[in-house]
Amino acid sequence: MEINKIYNENCLDTMAKMPDNFIDLTVTSPPYDNLREYKGYSFAFEEIAKELFRITKQGGVVVWVVGDATMNGSESGTSFKQALFFKEIGFNLHDTMIYQKVNYVPLTHNRYEQSFEFMFILSKGKPKTFNPIMIPCKQAGKVEKYGLERRQNHGSKHAMRLYDETEFKATKENKIAPNIFAYTLGREKTGHPAPFPEALANDHITTWSNEGDLVYDCFMGSGTVAKICVQTNRNYIGSEISEEYCKIIETRIKECGGLFFNSFETELSSEAGT
Ligand SMILES: C[S@@+](CC[C@H](N)C(=O)[O-])C[C@H]1O[C@@H](n2cnc3c(N)ncnc32)[C@H](O)[C@@H]1O
Repeated sequence: MEINKIYNENCLDTMAKMPDNFIDLTVTSPPYDNLREYKGYSFAFEEIAKELFRITKQGGVVVWVVGDATMNGSESGTSFKQALFFKEIGFNLHDTMIYQKVNYVPLTHNRYEQSFEFMFILSKGKPKTFNPIMIPCKQAGKVEKYGLERRQNHGSKHAMRLYDETEFKATKENKIAPNIFAYTLGREKTGHPAPFPEALANDHITTWSNEGDLVYDCFMGSGTVAKICVQTNRNYIGSEISEEYCKIIETRIKECGGLFFNSFETELSSEAGT
């Protein structure tokens, strides 16, 4: 199976070519509910989920970015059903993260404006890679007496104990970021109706994989995951069923200096030669 390549086909066909335990990380966003029609292409969720489990290495991760449509006055709940199905087939639901849309589109209706999607972090066993984003601690350098006291007395603030000075620790400079990530939509003018913010792809690729790892996107859309892999020295494989979107991917990868060999391009050059 060739890597650093976009396969212009159904992702089930691409995954069928992959051996078991092959991929370090998948970052993807399915065509959820009927929010967008994506040219009528269908999407067999359960089969795809099982194949993702098979091809993911032990300790590998799938980042599944998804939201729900509202139909007949009710949210579909598809995102929850999908997360629970992933658990049923063996993935750990390692973390339910939120992708907050800073510049969400205001709609007139009888509920608060929809401004987030889920980012389910699914792992095959314990994640083998975690390079967390760190943020500064507001209390950096201050002595952590109170916290220590409560912890050592099993949470009871009334229990008393004498302390040795060496037990007092200064708060660290940095801590692990919280699991709500905020992004501004629409910075990437790709021609695709729903590209990831590049920062979202970058944050997950650098968190859950290392340089040289193999990253997959089964719904590659405009190629954001491939572009970020090129920029962060990861290998990639992508599946995208639409020929039109494959052209967008080709342009984006060329622009960022990556190699691009896709089956669609091969077809085009052979046509050009006849
Ligand atoms: C939500 S978009 C992905 C957008 C992508 N994350 C990006 O940054 O551009 C989903 C994509 O999946 C593609 N798609 C739908 N069903 C597919 C299938 N069975 N196999 C491969 N691609 C599929 C659609 O054409 C669409 O481009």
